[in-house]
Amino acid sequence: MAKAKKSIVFPDGFLWGTAVCSHQADGHNENSDWWAWEKKGKIYDGTVSGAAADMLNRYPEDFELMEKLGYNAFRLSVEWARIEPKRGQYSEEGLAHIENVLKELRKRNIKACLTLYHWVLPKWVADDGGWVNRENVERFRAFVEKVVERVYDDVDIWVTLNEPTAPLFAGYVLGEFPPEKRNPVLAVKVFKNLLRAHAAAYAVIMAESARRGETEKPVIGIAMALAEVESSNPDNPLDRGLHEMIKFLHNDAFIDACQTGRVPFPFGVNEKIEGLAGSFTFVGVNYYTRFRFNIKQKKMPRELTDFLYLPEGIETTAMGYEVYPPGFYNILKEMSKFGVPIYVTENGIADETDEQRPGYLLRHLAQVKRAIDDGIDVRGYFQWSYIDNFEWRFGFVKRLGLVTYDPVTFERETRPSAYMYGDIAKKGRITPALARKYAPEVVPELWGDE
Ligand code: BGC
Repeated sequence: MAKAKKSIVFPDGFLWGTAVCSHQADGHNENSDWWAWEKKGKIYDGTVSGAAADMLNRYPEDFELMEKLGYNAFRLSVEWARIEPKRGQYSEEGLAHIENVLKELRKRNIKACLTLYHWVLPKWVADDGGWVNRENVERFRAFVEKVVERVYDDVDIWVTLNEPTAPLFAGYVLGEFPPEKRNPVLAVKVFKNLLRAHAAAYAVIMAESARRGETEKPVIGIAMALAEVESSNPDNPLDRGLHEMIKFLHNDAFIDACQTGRVPFPFGVNEKIEGLAGSFTFVGVNYYTRFRFNIKQKKMPRELTDFLYLPEGIETTAMGYEVYPPGFYNILKEMSKFGVPIYVTENGIADETDEQRPGYLLRHLAQVKRAIDDGIDVRGYFQWSYIDNFEWRFGFVKRLGLVTYDPVTFERETRPSAYMYGDIAKKGRITPALARKYAPEVVPELWGDE
């Protein structure tokens, strides 16, 4: 007789969240660099962020839906361009808005994870050199002070920066994001200034906590873009070396620097940055895929996926990424080296029809559980994304939401995986019956054959 399958059970108090970024989901981030750049026809599908998913106005309805579905956490961001649309002029409307949003989450008992920088700058900051200009670090600090002063009590988890390597490489090496530079000298400056910006935000939050005489440190970290980077041809030393270098630049250099307090080569010569050493109390993991690069690529590469080694037959997402759940476990294990708790700040899939998403989600959650069982302190999981939104250069064609919406009326429509995730969140477990219902194809991988 077949053995009964056991549920995959998560610890009590685990956070079951979803995530968005204000520029991508709220809409009308009019005083920002991206807003201006989109208008120049830079987005592949010819769109602009515009009203995005209109969360700016619909957040009460969205939070009601999250509560109903059973999600107990939400990751969102505050836009510097809304708080300080012009240099030195703080917007009461912007501050009141983020305060109201966070209070609405509190009211519904949904824990708030707030990101302070998610790739978008006020236009005036970008025009004055963006992250190349060190003065903008001090301006960022002042903005963070305003936010912290206003909403400290309403935030449970602070993310200083989202994926700092993305604006760095896409904006200053590949020239794919504003300000479209391909200049390693500028990239080095940006790397250092982003480290300084993180250290500044960390210091502001810690100072507020100290002022209040709190005995426990606030929860502060960076949402790091972390891919499993693996050589596609490990017998070839050149290929192996290339992959090790990419792993270092993409995954490790920034977060390691936040631990050591020093700027590593090639971004620096091991010089110290004030207040950087040990400047996080958790690690935020954004995991989507495995990177295996094809160094013999013949096609003229345009996007990241053009460089990837994707052999026939492997499952990929609508972004063209490989689906590779074991890499998630490896990353969680690696990040446990810092000895602080981990939150999965992003994980998700572009899939308009919702055919792949349930399986993707279950397989990745099973890896989180595997990590927890191995003693890795993972405290929560934020699915990217709560709702379809403006997917940067791709515009609106890549659909990563658990929820979608009508582009004219903005009426929300809940995808099946949103209910599935809600069931897991409410019960704190994945039952075999749930997996059979939503993604029977993953049952053998999760529990072994009958
Ligand atoms: C970013 C998000 C983005 C998501 C999906 C992450 O790298 O933080 O802003 O939408 O990936 O591509």
